[in-house]
Amino acid sequence: MVLEPHEENIQLAIKILDEGQCIGLPTETVYGLAGNALNTQAIARIFEVKNRPVFDPLILHIADTNAYEKLQELAVIPEKNKSIIQTLIQAYWPGALTLILPKRNIIPELATANLPTLAIRCPHHPTAQLLLNTYGKPLAAPSANLFGRISPTTAEAVDEELGQRIPLILNGGPCHLGIESTIIDCSGPRPILLRRGAITEEEIMEKIGSLAPPEQTSHPVAPGMLKNHYAPRTPLYLLEAEAPLTQSLPKEYAYLFWNRTNHLPQYSKTLTPNTSFREAAAHLFSSLRALDQSPAKKIFCDPVPDENLGRAIKERLLKASSGTAIWDNRDFVLTDRE
Ligand code: TXA
Ligand code: MG
Repeated sequence: MVLEPHEENIQLAIKILDEGQCIGLPTETVYGLAGNALNTQAIARIFEVKNRPVFDPLILHIADTNAYEKLQELAVIPEKNKSIIQTLIQAYWPGALTLILPKRNIIPELATANLPTLAIRCPHHPTAQLLLNTYGKPLAAPSANLFGRISPTTAEAVDEELGQRIPLILNGGPCHLGIESTIIDCSGPRPILLRRGAITEEEIMEKIGSLAPPEQTSHPVAPGMLKNHYAPRTPLYLLEAEAPLTQSLPKEYAYLFWNRTNHLPQYSKTLTPNTSFREAAAHLFSSLRALDQSPAKKIFCDPVPDENLGRAIKERLLKASSGTAIWDNRDFVLTDRE
């Protein structure tokens, strides 16, 4: 059931959360599947609803009121990273930044997949904040999709995928960022970027000077880094060069264009008619979802510029894809990914 975030529905959400069930919750990045982070049964229910393997840890969400104090009740701030962490929080909380920090024992082990660390963020979306502040407890929330599938950016998308499995989805409209939070590991000697996301590396480096790239992590594989993720059911192929003129494109396929707006084939979406990275990110998952629902048997995607938010978008498309494709004047030649 999709409901508007009015006072009585916030109370209903709290009642459901207190029963150890989970709900669909809007955030500024993507919709989350939220449950009481301090209740092992609620955490178990999240894994069950998503079909998520239990080795894949969750992100905790906290209210913006006294966020730094709340953070310290749940996680340890390593002394050597204290000023970096404070700078990041000052700059990006509430917002699309997740920190990895050593966890405190109050957190159920299932939430962190037995890791000694915890992923935590303070979301910006007003409905998420209204619920977190009213509830007064942290919420664990992975993206509200079945494991490995496309992240949802509207309440309708959550309803289509999980509506039968959860009692309530709060409607917060389309997520304005549209891709997940940026994850930075601050548990070790220096900050490491674990997942590219809605805040770019450049923005973060401007604040803290340096940031080690994801490849240098010594962590057990963070499953956002699994090779297959965010995937449509229709095979997606990444074009090595921009698609040819529309007139020559086979009409039976679906297309995800970068900024093309003229003479679009029937099954197609354009990530950014205005050529803006923010707009492309905001359209990414909803466009993939729409093309997946078309009758086309394959989706072809234009190359995405390798800069700014384009890098986070590319990373997601790569994980969602079955392989690459080139156009040979009559049809596409496919190369499947291992
Ligand atoms: O924007 C977001 O971050 C959204 C919204 C709902 O907040 N959430 C989200 O959650 O993307 P999820 O579960 O789809 O992705 C969480 C990622 C996973 O890749 C997981 O491996 C990583 O966070 N993660 C969680 N705890 C971790 C830890 N202790 N160490 C390393 N990675 C961790
Ligand atoms: Mg996810």
